[in-house]
Amino acid sequence: MSVHQNTGRVAVITGASSGIGEATARALAADGHSVALLARRAGRVQVLADELGDGAIAVEADVTDRNSIVAAAARVKQELGGADILVNNAGVMLTAPFSSDQREEHRHMVETNLLGAMTATEVFLDQLRANERGDLVNVSSVAGRIAPAGFAAYAATKWGINGWSEALRVELQPDIRVTVIEPGAITTELTDHITDPASKQANETATAELGIPAQDIADVIAFAVSRPQRVTLNEILVRPTAQAM
Ligand SMILES: NC(=O)c1ccc[n+]([C@@H]2O[C@H](COP(=O)([O-])OP(=O)(O)OC[C@H]3O[C@@H](n4cnc5c(N)ncnc54)[C@H](OP(=O)(O)O)[C@@H]3O)[C@@H](O)[C@H]2O)c1
Repeated sequence: MSVHQNTGRVAVITGASSGIGEATARALAADGHSVALLARRAGRVQVLADELGDGAIAVEADVTDRNSIVAAAARVKQELGGADILVNNAGVMLTAPFSSDQREEHRHMVETNLLGAMTATEVFLDQLRANERGDLVNVSSVAGRIAPAGFAAYAATKWGINGWSEALRVELQPDIRVTVIEPGAITTELTDHITDPASKQANETATAELGIPAQDIADVIAFAVSRPQRVTLNEILVRPTAQAM
């Protein structure tokens, strides 16, 4: 039996073409929400929107390109009536020992993970405010709390998400709830893009050994946004049971 409330709202999910974003889109659609699926890989989000059917739209959008987010917001307003929930999920994890060789990757991670979330939020803020109540869900990471070698730049983006979210909560609540999700090892495409061979190997091995499905995070996001308006789940650390430390 579903205990979820608040069905029938409009959720915008960035990075909905794979992994946690795709699973979150499925979970929120299953709970009765309309979903706007944002990602650069237009074909992937279109296939998912077709599968989810009525109330799902696919929008090609790059969180590092503000114009594309503005265009996405216009479509969400026109086709779905405006966003009630924004899930800032789009992200890249390009782990490597910190050095000049990786400087473009450092910039890419900050622009995607941190500035991308800020851009999507400032663009959609009027829609979140206009509706009866809003939810902002920021996907951070266990690397927003602890960070081993190789995670310096990535952790900086996730620490940034956490600090930004703390201040936003003070500014936006009670009208818009702010929830931070901190996943541990999740089996997704995230490690595919790592260019440093040793770091890629280590992360792929750890995820293969410990990783849990993206659905497990999606369920937590769906639960958080379904709580009664009087309750906010500020920060949720979700790790595989096998990943105790
Ligand atoms: N997997 C884990 O173990 C783990 C742990 C902690 C936190 N996280 C976080 O979870 C989030 C989702 O990652 P995932 O694990 O599900 O990895 P994933 O399968 O690689 O998904 C990443 C998503 O982000 C999108 N994306 C990347 N750059 C983008 C951009 N510039 N504009 C729009 N979308 C962009 C990708 O879509 P396109 O390429 O189609 O644009 C894709 O849909 C990330 O923020 C990640 O840091 C993951």
